[in-house]
Amino acid sequence: MNQDEEKRKAARAAMRHVEPGMIVGVGTGSTVAHFIDALAERRHDIAGAVSSSEWSSQRLRERGIEVLDLNATGELPLYVDGADECDGNKCLIKGGGAALTREKIVAAASRRFVCVIDPSKRVEVLGRFPLPIEVIPMARSHVARELVKLGGQPVWRDGVVTDNGNWILDVHHLRISAPLELERELNQIAGVVTVGLFAARRADVVLIGDREMA
Ligand code: A5P
Repeated sequence: MNQDEEKRKAARAAMRHVEPGMIVGVGTGSTVAHFIDALAERRHDIAGAVSSSEWSSQRLRERGIEVLDLNATGELPLYVDGADECDGNKCLIKGGGAALTREKIVAAASRRFVCVIDPSKRVEVLGRFPLPIEVIPMARSHVARELVKLGGQPVWRDGVVTDNGNWILDVHHLRISAPLELERELNQIAGVVTVGLFAARRADVVLIGDREMA
């Protein structure tokens, strides 16, 4: 089975968590694209979606799913999103699609976070995938210097502007054996908006294809 079929299978399996009348938090990326397609088949059965990116909002609307404002919905029962890497504790690296800030907000505002991945995303130790960090543009060089002091090698994702008007640094050569501690430490750097480590709010359920990770 190819990678896209694995993504589609995981996205379809996540539909088991969607219940009638729900407002569903929706992530971003190629796996979530399959989830949005599956959700569209049940669009009359749900109350709407809260989206984590302009890209997902557009795809949801095109498929007839109402996009709601998180400020108006309150806490969500369910958030479904992909990841770039996932370790054995369901801690994640996210942000390959530059949507990490809104993803982290919607994940934080949701009772259950179901993460949908293909098998290539499952790793023993996070960090082979460069860690995305969203920064305020004027702080880019400062944040980069601080990251070098911590042993990382930050690379500016030149030309990419996030939905929030910020920039992305991708940090190479980190071996993240203590994700929660690193997430807290990186959050302290002035100018950092969001760290693409999802450890404080990790996934509750991880679906690798249609198999649930123990
Ligand atoms: C978007 O910013 C990311 O966090 C995505 O969730 C992540 O990159 C996974 O994307 P794919 O499903 O396309 O692999």
